[in-house]
Amino acid sequence: QLKAVIFDLDGVITDSAEYHYLAWKAVADELGIPFDRSKNERLKGISRMESLEIVLEDSGLHFSEADKAALARKKNELYLQQIKRITPADLLPGIGELLHGLRERGIAAGLASASRNAAYILERLEAGSWFQAVVDPGSVRKGKPDPEIFLKAAELLGVSPRSCVGVEDAAAGVAAIKAAGMLAVGIGDARLLGAADRVLSSTAELSVELLLEGFGP
Ligand code: G6P
Ligand code: MG
Repeated sequence: QLKAVIFDLDGVITDSAEYHYLAWKAVADELGIPFDRSKNERLKGISRMESLEIVLEDSGLHFSEADKAALARKKNELYLQQIKRITPADLLPGIGELLHGLRERGIAAGLASASRNAAYILERLEAGSWFQAVVDPGSVRKGKPDPEIFLKAAELLGVSPRSCVGVEDAAAGVAAIKAAGMLAVGIGDARLLGAADRVLSSTAELSVELLLEGFGP
């Protein structure tokens, strides 16, 4: 029986995944490091500092820890400039209806985002009250693809992982959901998210009925 749906934020609830990409792209351009959307796929779901390591990996450049901290700060400043313009109209298609439908049926909603800006984005979207649990990424030791953040969300909601569906746009996130023993719905390119139980090309295709399907009659 479906008891809870645990959502990723960036690229699932709102299109902030695009803002992460633009901010990293600006940092990479300034350093003269090649960076494109295909490389960016590897950053999805990955923490800020781990993402920076991936951006810098083939550059042949060396940075001190202080330099790296400054680059991460710069990226976040650029990112904040974008997300401060988010409004409730920026919920991705179908998400508002889905959250509403889940509430009507007594199915809980949880948030499992690695982003330290997640609470701020929920505030901008005026969507915080739809979630009965929001995991603090600072409390998570191992990032996605480790299942920890999804397991923590289920624990906060007081439900078994087997009664949960996770929704993700990142390959690392889908891997984390599956490792947590949950059903996974991927949003995006089926070639990248093949490990999910179901892949949808857009959040507009999400519905309570579709999420219930994996749990049989
Ligand atoms: C999410 C995004 C990643 C981002 C991470 C940390 O997982 O998918 O692209 O790097 O959060 O976000 P933050 O806002 O803390 O830099
Ligand atoms: Mg995401």
